[in-house]
Amino acid sequence: MTSASPSNPIDIAELLAFYASAGADEALEDAPINRFAEARPKQAERAPAPTAPVRESRSQATQVSDAAPDAGRPPEQPAPPPRLDASRVPDAPARPLAATVAVPDEGQVLLARQLAANASSLDELRRHMAAFDGCNLKFTAKNLVFADGNPNADLMLVGEAPGRDEDLEGLPFVGRSGQLLDRMLAAIGLDRNSAYIANVIPWRPPGNRTPTPHETEICRPFIERQIELVNPKVLVNLGGPSAKTLLNTTDGILRLRGNWRVHTTASGIAIPAMPTLHPAYLLRTPAHKKLAWRDFLEVKAKLRGLAIS
Ligand code: URA
Repeated sequence: MTSASPSNPIDIAELLAFYASAGADEALEDAPINRFAEARPKQAERAPAPTAPVRESRSQATQVSDAAPDAGRPPEQPAPPPRLDASRVPDAPARPLAATVAVPDEGQVLLARQLAANASSLDELRRHMAAFDGCNLKFTAKNLVFADGNPNADLMLVGEAPGRDEDLEGLPFVGRSGQLLDRMLAAIGLDRNSAYIANVIPWRPPGNRTPTPHETEICRPFIERQIELVNPKVLVNLGGPSAKTLLNTTDGILRLRGNWRVHTTASGIAIPAMPTLHPAYLLRTPAHKKLAWRDFLEVKAKLRGLAIS
C-alpha cells in the first residue's frame, strides 16, 4: 500500500475529496493554528490572578479559554505541567484571539434581545445583526444570511441555518434544497417575489453541523423580531429546528407537520404557522414529498381564505 504524498496532485485531490465527503469542505484559515500554544501563554505573560471575583466584561469572556485555568490561583503558585508539549508543535502566526472567537454566554442572549427589540425596521435589524459579535458562528461564516424574497409578502418561510451555497451567496435557500423549495412554492403559485425567506440561524455552522442550543438561543431574538417586522399572514416552518424554536414545542416534525399552530410575536400578534418537512430532508426521503405537498396545499388554502375574508 502506498501512502498519500503531499506532492502528488492525484493524492491531494483524493485527500480533499475524502475531507469533503466527511463534511470538511473548506479551510477556515490559510495557515494551521496551534490552539494548544494559544491556550497556554508563557508564565511571564500571564496576568496575575485577581484577588477577588471580578465581573467579566464581554471581551474578557471571549478569552475565557486563556483565562479560566488560572482564575483564582495565587500569582506565585506554579502552573500545572502542560498535558501536551506545545513546543513540539510549530508556532502559529500571532493573532488576537479575542477578535476572532466569541464564547457564548448569557450576556450575549440579553444583548441580542436588546438589539433585536431596538430594531425598528428590517434594514436596522440587518445592521444590528451584522454588527453583533456574540455568536461564534459569525466568525467561521463568510456572510450574514439575512433573508431573500419580498418583505411585504403574505407568506414567510423560516428554515434552520444556511449551508455552504447560502454562506457563499449571503442568501437563504439557494443550494439544492433551495431549488426544491422554489419548485414547492411554484406548485402553489408563489415565488420569491411573493414570499419572504429567512433562517433561525443567520450564519452557516462550520461543516453544516447542527447549531448548539445556546447558538440557537442567541439567534432566536433576531428571527423573532424579523418575523414581527415582516408580520406575514402565514408562517411556514421548514423542518424541526425551525418549528421547535418558533412554535414553543419539543414535538418532532413528523408529528407536527400538517397541523396549524400559532407563532406569537413579542407584541402579542398571533400568526398562523404550518410546520412542514425541510426540503433537504425531502431530497433524502423523496417518498415524503407527498406530505409536504399536502402541507403546501393547506398553506395555499389558508392564504386564499385570508385574502377573501
Ligand atoms: N437549509 C436551511 O435550513 N436554510 C438554508 O438557507 C439552506 C438550507
